[in-house]
Amino acid sequence: MVLLVSTASELVDWRATIPGQRIAFVPTMGALHAGHVRLVERAREIADVVVVSIFVNPTQFGEGEDFERYPRTLDNDMKLLGDLADVVYAPNVDDVYPPDAPPLAKTAGPAGIGFEGAARPGHFDGMLTVVNRLFDIVKPDVAVFGQKDAQQVHLVRRLAIERGGPEIDVVRTVREDDGLARSSRNRYLSPEEREAAIAVPDSLRAVSAHIDSGVAAAVRAGRAVLTAEPLARLDYLELVSPADFTPVDDTFHGEATLVVAARFGTTRLLDTETIIVP
Ligand code: PAF
Repeated sequence: MVLLVSTASELVDWRATIPGQRIAFVPTMGALHAGHVRLVERAREIADVVVVSIFVNPTQFGEGEDFERYPRTLDNDMKLLGDLADVVYAPNVDDVYPPDAPPLAKTAGPAGIGFEGAARPGHFDGMLTVVNRLFDIVKPDVAVFGQKDAQQVHLVRRLAIERGGPEIDVVRTVREDDGLARSSRNRYLSPEEREAAIAVPDSLRAVSAHIDSGVAAAVRAGRAVLTAEPLARLDYLELVSPADFTPVDDTFHGEATLVVAARFGTTRLLDTETIIVP
């Protein structure tokens, strides 16, 4: 039976009932889909108990990003989770951001300014602030994140190092049969845009196929896939260093992170892959 709680103090009471057990945590903003389920399954594999949070965090939405209209589907989310989670923490804003004791505000710094940070100024400061606060509330041993939000993963790993925990476990992107990464945003694509969106995973494949010709040539090949698709507007496609999330060039060798973002109508899709640069 899943325990649904809405306050940090209920979590304190619950933790007192499970001394010594390893807690895995999956933070979410709800509107759950198969990608989230995979994260929760992974959490179950690596811990004794699993906590999922469902909280649409106001501080990571910028102006015009419509925090109010973000889908809130708690009943469906609970059904989808079934018995996979032990506890679902679905707080209101005041529980996460108590007006009399505001949580420590975190800043992403230079690694949060490019890519998603450029498209969504302030987003990563808000994301880090809430993740830090949720870590304080849930006190997990390990937290599970999806690979698809590569810049978020980079920043959360750094946060966890700063704080001295939790461990961060990253789960490979769950894809549709045609390769499109599962995302809450896919529901906003028209049928034509959905068909065109295959250009995103195709661009990843193109980079991989051309990497033996060097970073610049591979990046050009990946971008060409998206610029050739009339319904796509390429935002960025870069190979970045996992160390500091800055673009690498032809002098780089080793494991790089390929990040891509493209718009289809009003929907912005992200994807990522690890690429070994020979
Ligand atoms: O990836 C998300 O859904 C959010 O950024 C997170 C980590 C739940 C923080 O609000």
